[in-house]
Amino acid sequence: SGCGNSDTGGDAGGTDKIVLGFSQVGAESGWRTANTNSIKEAAGAAGIELKFDDAQQKQENQIKAIRNFIQQKVDVIAFSPVVESGWDTVLKEARDAKIPVILTDRSVDSADKTLYQTFIGSDFVKEGRLSGEWLVEQTRSATGPVNIVELQGTTGSAPANDRRKGFAEAIAANPNLKVVASQSGDFTRAGGKQVMEQFLKANPKIDVLFAHNDDMGLGALEAITAAGKVPGKDITIITIDAVKDGMQALADGKFNFIAECSPLLGPQLMDLVKKVHAGESVPTRVETEETTFTVEQAKAALPTRKY
Ligand code: AHR
Repeated sequence: SGCGNSDTGGDAGGTDKIVLGFSQVGAESGWRTANTNSIKEAAGAAGIELKFDDAQQKQENQIKAIRNFIQQKVDVIAFSPVVESGWDTVLKEARDAKIPVILTDRSVDSADKTLYQTFIGSDFVKEGRLSGEWLVEQTRSATGPVNIVELQGTTGSAPANDRRKGFAEAIAANPNLKVVASQSGDFTRAGGKQVMEQFLKANPKIDVLFAHNDDMGLGALEAITAAGKVPGKDITIITIDAVKDGMQALADGKFNFIAECSPLLGPQLMDLVKKVHAGESVPTRVETEETTFTVEQAKAALPTRKY
């Protein structure tokens, strides 16, 4: 995939266009779709030739795509690593080929920081922490135990690891807040629905759902309703992302709180691509700005929400 026929990369085509190879995680969520659109639009607007590959949530596909980009001698490689570990070999291959690499959205756990130029994306630990802090605030007057179930993102992914950590840290000082079940729903609606069904069967008293993204929360809504419970009332629901469908659920009172994760990384990514291609120095970390939403804030923001 991603084999254009006009400019085959490098200088072979004789054009001045920068060729960017981008390996995307997949199309698992509304967030991911918005992220892909942002990258494609921004590449077009910046006059950058984009070779885009969808890895269908498989690391082996991403490694293959990156090797293809190296073979095609693209100018810059960017990718959103599906999981954190296991990238050193292929990143060394890119470095040996003198192709700069930009991590987008998710980071890697490589000890050697010279394997990539920069990492642009959100602070996932913070998103988890903000979610936990909101819950602590909401449950201040609770007398009995508050039972929480957690729908984790893709196992081994940075957002799943970090959101889990930030949330756990935020609620740690409150022993009545207890995560009674925590399992991966792979960031998909189907996964969220299926795992929530299991949670509901195994746990007679669930007070709170913390879902690592909107899509899993949206899938869980079906399971909760089917179990005869009212989402947003019987079960307090906290999610992350703030994509349109999530914001609609929040405005409708089915969700109670969302910590935003912005998918609109395209324009900033293209700026970084131009800079590393020109040999300019770039910051090693570019953090995305984001906020949080309550029901009232979602109602106000929804009409002008772009994705
Ligand atoms: O890496 C970002 C996460 O990946 C988003 O929160 C989730 O929706 C997506 O699948």
